[in-house]
Amino acid sequence: MPIVPNPYKTTGFLGWIDDRFPLTKMWKDHVAEYYAPKNFNFWYFFGSLALLVLVNQLLTGIWLAMFFKPDAALAFESVEYIMRDVEWGWLIRYMHSTGASAFFVVVFLHMYRGLLYGSYRQPRELIWIFGCLIFLVLMAEAFMGYVLPWGQMSYWGAQVIISLFGAIPVVGEDLVTWIRGDFFIADATINRFFSLHVVALPFVLVGLVIAHLLALHEVGSNNPDGVEIKKHKDENGIPKDGIAFHPYYTVKDIFGTGVFLILFAFVIFFIPDFGGYFLEKPNFEPANPMVTPEHIAPVWYFTPQYAMLRAITVDLFGVPAKLWGVIVLGGSVVILFFLPWLDKSPVKSIRYKGPIFKIALALFTVSFVVLGYLGTQPPTPGKTLLAQIGTAIYFGFFFLMPFYTKIDKTKPEPDRVTMKEGH
Ligand code: HEM
Repeated sequence: MPIVPNPYKTTGFLGWIDDRFPLTKMWKDHVAEYYAPKNFNFWYFFGSLALLVLVNQLLTGIWLAMFFKPDAALAFESVEYIMRDVEWGWLIRYMHSTGASAFFVVVFLHMYRGLLYGSYRQPRELIWIFGCLIFLVLMAEAFMGYVLPWGQMSYWGAQVIISLFGAIPVVGEDLVTWIRGDFFIADATINRFFSLHVVALPFVLVGLVIAHLLALHEVGSNNPDGVEIKKHKDENGIPKDGIAFHPYYTVKDIFGTGVFLILFAFVIFFIPDFGGYFLEKPNFEPANPMVTPEHIAPVWYFTPQYAMLRAITVDLFGVPAKLWGVIVLGGSVVILFFLPWLDKSPVKSIRYKGPIFKIALALFTVSFVVLGYLGTQPPTPGKTLLAQIGTAIYFGFFFLMPFYTKIDKTKPEPDRVTMKEGH
């Protein structure tokens, strides 16, 4: 018998575990007695879905790695082998390649929820910052994964993106050689990208997700009204507007998972390359360093940033356009980290924010989607101009936020969460 029996009074095998390991404690703290606001809506599906797609990527990735050859001479054929000869290999591969796009769909919507309800605001700044780090690592992870099948777009995409580091003054060219591990994109490059994609970055990603959730459970979830439910607790210390995560939200999330899996399966079985958006057509040809594809464009989830990179066409203040492009590209992600301190509105949720914020968010949303489209297209003078306007709106949304959120006419926030009768 342990000196102090566990406080949950569990017996049998579970009791034996609980005397030695906080299993029931973790279950209670994070699931059964995690009190979440009762007014979660559609937008709150995407956190649990992000976990689902993460697990999907990890599992399918492990199986792909059993057959994939990280070698410039063998990689393309090993993917063909997986697709044609390995039993169920085609399914595992499409679950992973479509899964990458699904990951970004889910994460974009998850981040957008944060924008709508001010979930990045005090006291959730660290949840948001861990989220931004996740986003950054996810982008690196997706980029390196796309290089591995060693198709034409893998090769030339890597060529374009890695050479961007060459724009950095003084160290740029050496940095490019260091990243590639050779004087051109070569066997050394695929080998190190494999190692980073399969081992290093997944570890970092999982670690960041754990930190993200620990930070969330420390302060508690926000909600569509943006009011703090911990302000009103009952005699047992339970938030009056809170409900236990299990069973109420486990049931909700199982429903979301079902709907998601139906859509995911539809794409995998009927349009796995999504007309060239999830897997680009040139990537069905082996990498050829002697032939550049007619039009190099990244996969859809990088196209807004790609459009911003190409929108910068003039040298400014003695800084060459290429370096400006790289600064804008990096800045478009870095600026997200500062969001908690840019929003000066007295209220969190869009429900109570004023017309200026709503217009700003609408313009931001439209320009992000338009930039995404422009990034898939070959540039023309008209399209470049549109991309420049889109880039200005993207950054204007953030840079001007401290001003327009201060002067905006907000509505008074309610004291408790609001719900329609019968819900
Ligand atoms: C692998 C990627 C991610 C996973 C697995 C993940 C997981 C989760 C989960 C399970 C929740 C709680 C459920 C929910 O509120 O929907 C959550 C909340 C949250 N996440 Fe993420 N997340 C990821 C990426 C991100 C990113 C990229 C951001 C933003 C940059 C972000 C920002 C937030 C915020 C602000 C909350 C609190 C929302 C609220 O309480 O209203 N997350 N996340």
